[in-house]
Amino acid sequence: MCGIVGYVGEQQALEVVLGGLRRLEYRGYDSAGVAILHGGRLQVERKAGKLSNLEKEIGEKSLPGTLGIGHTRWATHGPPTDRNAHPQVDCAGKVAVVHNGTIENFEVLVRGLEDRGHTRTSDTDTEVVAHLVEERYDGDLAATVRSICQDLEGSFVLVIAHQDEPDLVVAARRNLPLVIGLGEGENFVGSDVTAFIAHTREARAVEQDQVVEVRRSGVTVTDLEGNVVEGDSYHVDWDTAAAEKGGHEFFMLKEIEEQPAAIRETLGGRLQEDGLLHLDELSMSDQDIRDIEQVVIVGCGSAYHSGLVGKYALERWARLPVQAEMASEFRYRDPVIGRSTLVIAVSQSGETADTLEAVRHARHLRAKVLAVTNTVGSTISRESDAALYTRGGPEVAVASTKSVMTQITAMYLVGLYLAQVRGTRDPDEVRAHLADLQAVPALVQEVLDRMGPVRQLARELVDEERVLFLGRHVGYPMALEGALKLKELAYIGAEGFPAGEIKHGPIALVEQGTPVIVIAPRHALQAKLVNNVQEVRARGARTIVIATDGDESVTPYADTIIRIPDTKSLLTPLLTIVPLQVLSAEIARARGLDVDQPRNLAKSVTVE
Ligand code: AGP
Repeated sequence: MCGIVGYVGEQQALEVVLGGLRRLEYRGYDSAGVAILHGGRLQVERKAGKLSNLEKEIGEKSLPGTLGIGHTRWATHGPPTDRNAHPQVDCAGKVAVVHNGTIENFEVLVRGLEDRGHTRTSDTDTEVVAHLVEERYDGDLAATVRSICQDLEGSFVLVIAHQDEPDLVVAARRNLPLVIGLGEGENFVGSDVTAFIAHTREARAVEQDQVVEVRRSGVTVTDLEGNVVEGDSYHVDWDTAAAEKGGHEFFMLKEIEEQPAAIRETLGGRLQEDGLLHLDELSMSDQDIRDIEQVVIVGCGSAYHSGLVGKYALERWARLPVQAEMASEFRYRDPVIGRSTLVIAVSQSGETADTLEAVRHARHLRAKVLAVTNTVGSTISRESDAALYTRGGPEVAVASTKSVMTQITAMYLVGLYLAQVRGTRDPDEVRAHLADLQAVPALVQEVLDRMGPVRQLARELVDEERVLFLGRHVGYPMALEGALKLKELAYIGAEGFPAGEIKHGPIALVEQGTPVIVIAPRHALQAKLVNNVQEVRARGARTIVIATDGDESVTPYADTIIRIPDTKSLLTPLLTIVPLQVLSAEIARARGLDVDQPRNLAKSVTVE
């Protein structure tokens, strides 16, 4: 949601800033803009729609300058129009501001500014900041921003340029992510490291209520009182190639292909020579682990679905009571948790607002919080007691694919580790499960190699308006995930249900030809699933069944069968989800939709 770049250096800022914005496109946006400072004058260009619109608007215009800020906006206050695009400016056009977040007290601030003679030219909350800088600036932009931040309520990342400061970009953050990129004779700020990864891999995270002064020669970070705050930088392992499409038409298709390697990365280095697990990252002593009395897993969207799989795994292996729940609901229901609760926050980005608030609430209630995240240095990883990184590499497409795979893999690791330490599974059984898990990447590759029939199926389903997904046990979260993928990518009304629930209502949706996708790998509940397939088929459904190689029990009732290799039933989500990802992407492509950036969606939902 909203992408931000700030740059001061020797290169032409326009190119650097547009390059950064292009890499941040995946976050989702509906307008874009830049401000470049040159010769004591700020030139601002902004445009509704995609970055290509902005580039067309800039056209042959000359925007020289080595200091710039840029923004992709996901509209909250005011529709996505040219005038509401960022940067927003003050009355004199001397100050340019880009902003991610919402300034909750902006109406009070606007009234004050209007009383004092300022004229608004947009519907945004952001514009107030530009006018406040105009009013308070006395030659020290950083001090001005610090004073303004004290009057702002809500969440924000602000990046500001002033025409009288030719070597300074000032940034500030509260509740939303901001990262510094440290270069040689040039420095950056961005919403995440992809904003500057093409130029430097040295990064530093900005903490809550800090203000950053970015100059060519270096970066200074202060708190809101102006005290300098030291901090460590870290090296980013990702490179630009990892964030490029690598010959694929869409990032999502590339990311689907990367899944076997991603799972291997998640497992890498976490298995000891004796075949057991080594998870120091949990920062918990064996006694701490034995003292856990319950586990609560929180996440949003696909991350929640990964958490649901985790619930089955942790309950089975570690014999602990586990709840998995949507982070957006967690803190509003007065959860009964405390010191003996382990809360696991699952988030690819590590920045999802609801998950972050759930982490804060859990810690407030004294629970131990473990982040399962892909993003080193993210707010959730920093605010949790410990972080288990999924190491999936950059995921650019809005739709989660390899992040789900790696999150589920990480949940299995946590489940087996708790079982190992608590002694609820004997070491040989833990070893055997880990060996099964290590075999999964090759099986995922096998599934990927068989996607021809799924592409054919996508062509057959392209005009459908409703598709139902059924699953049982760990197939149920994958039914939810399959339906989410189809909704978000192809805009098809899709719903996932536990197969046992259909007779309690959803079966009324089935009519002649309704596609019903049943996730039915070999499992103890197989016979029951076969019954469910028969039930919907008897009512006219077109049944599409994901079944294990060699399992013929469902063949007579399946109009289409998608085969997956055999694995242990608890691990099947890592295989069954693959055809569902490919199916949704291919239907979206056949419908002529933007597979990587579906309408209305943002990669990282940083507002509640
Ligand atoms: C699904 O394809 C989406 N990308 C979405 O549901 C996502 O999983 C959710 O917004 C949570 O994001 P996070 O993992 O970055 O917290």
